[in-house]
Amino acid sequence: MNAATTSAPRIPAARLHEYVRAIWEQAGSSAREAQLVADHLVAANLTGHDSHGVGMIPRYVESLREHELKLNGHASVVKDVGAVLTIDGGKGFGQVVAQEAMEHGIERVKKLGVCAVALRNAHHIGRIGHWAEQCAKAGFVSFHFVNVAGDPLVASFGGADRRIGTNPFCAAFPRAGKAPLVLDFATSAVAYGKTRVAYNQGKQVPPGSLIDHEGKPTVEPKVMMEEPFGALMPVGGQAGGHKGFGLAAMCEIFGGALSGGYTTHEDTLQKTSAIINCMLSVIVDPAAFDAPDAEAEADAFVEWVKASPLVAGAERIYAPGEPERVTRAEREANGIPVDPETWRQIHAAALKAGLSQEQADNWSAHLR
Ligand SMILES: NC(=O)c1ccc[n+]([C@@H]2O[C@H](COP(=O)([O-])OP(=O)(O)OC[C@H]3O[C@@H](n4cnc5c(N)ncnc54)[C@H](O)[C@@H]3O)[C@@H](O)[C@H]2O)c1
Repeated sequence: MNAATTSAPRIPAARLHEYVRAIWEQAGSSAREAQLVADHLVAANLTGHDSHGVGMIPRYVESLREHELKLNGHASVVKDVGAVLTIDGGKGFGQVVAQEAMEHGIERVKKLGVCAVALRNAHHIGRIGHWAEQCAKAGFVSFHFVNVAGDPLVASFGGADRRIGTNPFCAAFPRAGKAPLVLDFATSAVAYGKTRVAYNQGKQVPPGSLIDHEGKPTVEPKVMMEEPFGALMPVGGQAGGHKGFGLAAMCEIFGGALSGGYTTHEDTLQKTSAIINCMLSVIVDPAAFDAPDAEAEADAFVEWVKASPLVAGAERIYAPGEPERVTRAEREANGIPVDPETWRQIHAAALKAGLSQEQADNWSAHLR
């Protein structure tokens, strides 16, 4: 969660959404594609994950200019064996192809009770919780294992250089008439995008998150942005990093290998601005189990853990997904903070995407 943006200028979500749509329509996206990209990026900002919000636009524009990101692409089912679907994203916008992949999976779960959807070769699919929420809206439980193919940023446990992607894991449990429980995190100690946000804001990252190019611990995000490059630590850091490393490895193999995509190694290192994700999603209808009290049991557990006395310094206990809901409510009311450096980068990207200087200046003047 990025709490560090409180002093940044605030932009109403609906206006930011219009700007994102305008940029992508100008770049050549269909109205639907521009809408889905804006929906996703603005929702990431609303939930507090600025690392996966509108600040991604400059990187996507670079990827487009390098002919990596393919506009107006769609998810294509390459193998269908009923409860297992393999889908190729063709480097289309992840915000489109992941949405379509989940739609295919959800349709199958309605018939069969379960579906494993392997999506490969998608351009950046952003905040994975978005896809779990799509499944939860349909009433389904889901688990998602994702690799960031060929883009090592994270050290192995015990290793002193970058070997693995920030490979997110996500799981969600829907509840009738209530928000789903959504666990969604990068298997690095902090998400890479959060080091970008900290760097843009001239801030440090929490201890235990990074090592420098010699493998020494550091709190300076510049080791991720400027040479000589350091690495992110796996989640768990110095003490429990073997668990983060292990989960990242399984995300790599389930997401990258089982999907027919690829894992990260010498032959697959990404040389462009594109971020390629592969994701294995297992989607299940909870009604298919013999568990009529599953939701009541889940709620009883959440109530139980939240009733714990607080340790010094803690303000409350959150259920998975709750911090995102709290931030969303606050940002829907007060607008989305965008720091000046990120805003400058978006403005420059808007020009590269084809907006005229006057149009881009008008948007900026209008929104800030
Ligand atoms: N597409 C990609 O290639 C890619 C790669 C890495 C990360 N990501 C995305 O980046 C986003 C950010 O990841 P992150 O690792 O920085 O997330 P994070 O460290 O903020 O952790 C988020 C998870 O922890 C829960 N949480 C947060 N604070 C909590 C608290 N105090 N108590 C209880 N639960 C709490 C949240 O509800 C959420 O489930 C995720 O949405 C992830 O999917 C995407």
